[in-house]
Amino acid sequence: MSHSAEHWDKVYAGREDNALTWHEDVPALALEIIRARLAPGQAVIDVGGGTSRLAEALLEEGFGPVTVLDLSKQALEHNRARMGARGEEVSWIAADVTAWEPDRTYALWHDRAVFHFLGDAADRAAYVTRMAQALAPGGLALISTFADDGPERCSGLPVQRYAPQELAAELERHAPGQFTPFQARRHDHHTPAGNIQKFQTSLFRKC
Ligand SMILES: C[S@@+](CC[C@H](N)C(=O)[O-])C[C@H]1O[C@@H](n2cnc3c(N)ncnc32)[C@H](O)[C@@H]1O
Repeated sequence: MSHSAEHWDKVYAGREDNALTWHEDVPALALEIIRARLAPGQAVIDVGGGTSRLAEALLEEGFGPVTVLDLSKQALEHNRARMGARGEEVSWIAADVTAWEPDRTYALWHDRAVFHFLGDAADRAAYVTRMAQALAPGGLALISTFADDGPERCSGLPVQRYAPQELAAELERHAPGQFTPFQARRHDHHTPAGNIQKFQTSLFRKC
């Protein structure tokens, strides 16, 4: 179900961004980490970017080129339309990240609340393979998931929850020796309705 574009198109259809539990007006943590690690001109991909403001914020701050990949065409079209002229600067890719064939490399892979939907080990292996293909040597992977004490479901779907060391072990299982963890943080996401969701965000370097 997490691979169903229909599911995600329905989730996004006719909903204001504020009705999405994961919505952030400003993706502050990702921006803070990216500002500290990346230079303008280095390519970023936001995997499962949906209607996130990250692409727009990065372009406004002079970062980019920026690509946003998502299963949901509805979300991508909504994001593009909201961005107006800036939307033309983004490469939009409608695809399943576990099956997508990257045709270029990126300096940074960003995923907020996508990997945690992958309940099958084969899907997680495929995701890590795509990530390894898509990242340039020395590239960074910034992955946010529900933490081990976070919610058990998101958008009506079950999720896998990770402590930072569990996420690092999962990447190591699927790509031994390829991703070195070097920064991790536990943090709270305040949903638009005012609830708190426990997240973890980890940064890895591709060896
Ligand atoms: C919880 S939302 C998070 C959206 C965005 N990252 C944010 O922080 O606002 C999960 C997103 O992942 C997308 N998604 C789920 N499974 C996917 C897959 N296998 N490949 C690509 N995108 C996927 C969904 O369409 C949705 O936009």
